[in-house]
Amino acid sequence: MSGRLSGKSALITGSARGIGRAFAEAYVREGATVAIADIDLDRSSRTASEIGSAAYAVKLDVTDQASIDAAICAVEERQGGLDILINNAALFDLAPIVEISRASYDRLFSINVAGTLFMMQAAARSMIAKGQGGKIINMASQAGRRGEGLVAVYCATKAAVISLTQSAGLDLIKHGINVNAIAPGVVDGEHWDGVDALFAKYENRPLGEKKKLVGAEVPFGRMGRAEDLTGMAIFLASADADYIVAQTYNVDGGNWMS
Ligand SMILES: NC(=O)c1ccc[n+]([C@@H]2O[C@H](COP(=O)([O-])OP(=O)(O)OC[C@H]3O[C@@H](n4cnc5c(N)ncnc54)[C@H](O)[C@@H]3O)[C@@H](O)[C@H]2O)c1
Repeated sequence: MSGRLSGKSALITGSARGIGRAFAEAYVREGATVAIADIDLDRSSRTASEIGSAAYAVKLDVTDQASIDAAICAVEERQGGLDILINNAALFDLAPIVEISRASYDRLFSINVAGTLFMMQAAARSMIAKGQGGKIINMASQAGRRGEGLVAVYCATKAAVISLTQSAGLDLIKHGINVNAIAPGVVDGEHWDGVDALFAKYENRPLGEKKKLVGAEVPFGRMGRAEDLTGMAIFLASADADYIVAQTYNVDGGNWMS
């Protein structure tokens, strides 16, 4: 199949649903083969079979080093190596500072930050061994650009993702591996249904109200859709992005400028 990612082997964490799934569909349309790597194996198997034969499910828990190593191994065995990684899996939570639990803090940092770092490390080792460079794309967020009163821990994890992108980008470019990130704003889907429910609880709102508010505040005029992000994800994985190193791009309808 021809396309901007023709013949490339990609792994997308957390791609059983949501933005990761849209990335997988877009990459397959561009000619890549994609590992749908998610902690929810039933759902990633369903997603892979719905996308078609260029997608396959891989069990992955990004908080577990043995699981990371096994997932990379599975991709190497099936595809002969890995060319593109998207670190997309993440967890959200919110609470006022005085109510944040250590369990929530540990879980979010373990998935969003340690998961991103050790997936980058495993992917980079594999790419270096193959000797053909590669592309790594991390999912940051507008939440990583500034604090939010109720969202301290998630915001801190996404600021850490932006920082890790900068350091890894600088370190890995000598191997021909480009590390960059995408910072979405507010993207509708199952994830934001959960976010909305948490805001409803802590801000005493009816369900659905927070979603309407944040959508109305986006300069573009609506919440994002997963498909709004796929162009940037394809571009950053393509040869057109070879000279782009350690950057985080806002794709957020105008919410944030930096
Ligand atoms: N939706 C938004 O508004 C928004 C905004 C900014 C940034 N983002 C970021 O974009 C990315 C995708 O967001 P989404 O809305 O599609 O999220 P989502 O919650 O819909 O999907 C996350 C996926 O990650 C998987 N996952 C969770 N823990 C895992 C683990 N330990 N190992 C492997 N997989 C695991 C889940 O099973 C799920 O399929 C995330 O990094 C998120 O922080 C989303």
